[in-house]
Amino acid sequence: MSNDTALFLGQFLRAPTTIGALAPSSRRLAAAVCAPVPERGEPTVVELGPGTGSFTSEIQQRLGGRGHHLAVEVNEPMARLLSERFPTVDVAHADAARVGELLSERGLRQADVVVSGLPWAAFPQKVQHELLDAVAAAMGQGAAFTTFSYIHAIPLSSARRFRALLAERFEEVVPGRTVWRNTPPAFVFHARRPRP
Ligand SMILES: C[S@@+](CC[C@H](N)C(=O)[O-])C[C@H]1O[C@@H](n2cnc3c(N)ncnc32)[C@H](O)[C@@H]1O
Repeated sequence: MSNDTALFLGQFLRAPTTIGALAPSSRRLAAAVCAPVPERGEPTVVELGPGTGSFTSEIQQRLGGRGHHLAVEVNEPMARLLSERFPTVDVAHADAARVGELLSERGLRQADVVVSGLPWAAFPQKVQHELLDAVAAAMGQGAAFTTFSYIHAIPLSSARRFRALLAERFEEVVPGRTVWRNTPPAFVFHARRPRP
C-alpha cells in the first residue's frame, strides 16, 4: 500500500463522511476532472478537497507556473502533506464553504475554474446547499466547475439530490464518460454558468 493510500485509509476510518473515499483518485480521473484548466493565461484555479494531491499534481502540470492555484483542504494532516509536497500551491487549511472569503483575503476576485474533490454524496442536504452556493458565488463569468461521482453511488438518494442541485444551480451540466481506471470507477460533471 502506498503512503498516500495508507493516509487516506487512516483518515477515512477517523472521519468517513468527510474523506468519502478509501483511496486517492487515479491519474485518469484527475485528467478528466482537470480538463477545464486553461493552457494559456493567468487563471485563478480553486481546488476543493485536494486530499493527498491527485488533482493538485494534474492542475500544477497544466498551469506550468502560471496563474494562482488555491487548494482548500479541511483535513489537517492532508493540508500539511500538500503544503510540503507542492510548495508552489497556495494551500489553505480551511472549510470549502469559506472559498469566497479565502479568495478576497488574497486579493483575488473570483475563480476561473473550480475543481472539486469533495465527497458530495456523503454530505447532508444542508451542507450540499451551503457548499454549492459558496462555489457558485466564487465563480466568475465564463468560469467552469467540475466534480466527480462514483458510479456505485448513482442510486443513492444523496447523490441524486446532489445531481438535482447541480442542475438547479447551473444552466449547463454535462456528465462525462465513466472513468473505469479508477477505484472505484467514477464519472465527471462539467458545469458552467451558475444561476444568480
Ligand atoms: C474523496 S476525497 C478526494 C481527495 C482527492 N481530490 C482525490 O480525488 O484523490 C475528499 C477530500 O475532501 C476533503 N473535504 C471534505 N469536506 C471538506 C470541506 N468542507 N472543505 C474542504 N475539504 C473537504 C477531505 O478531507 C478529503 O481530502
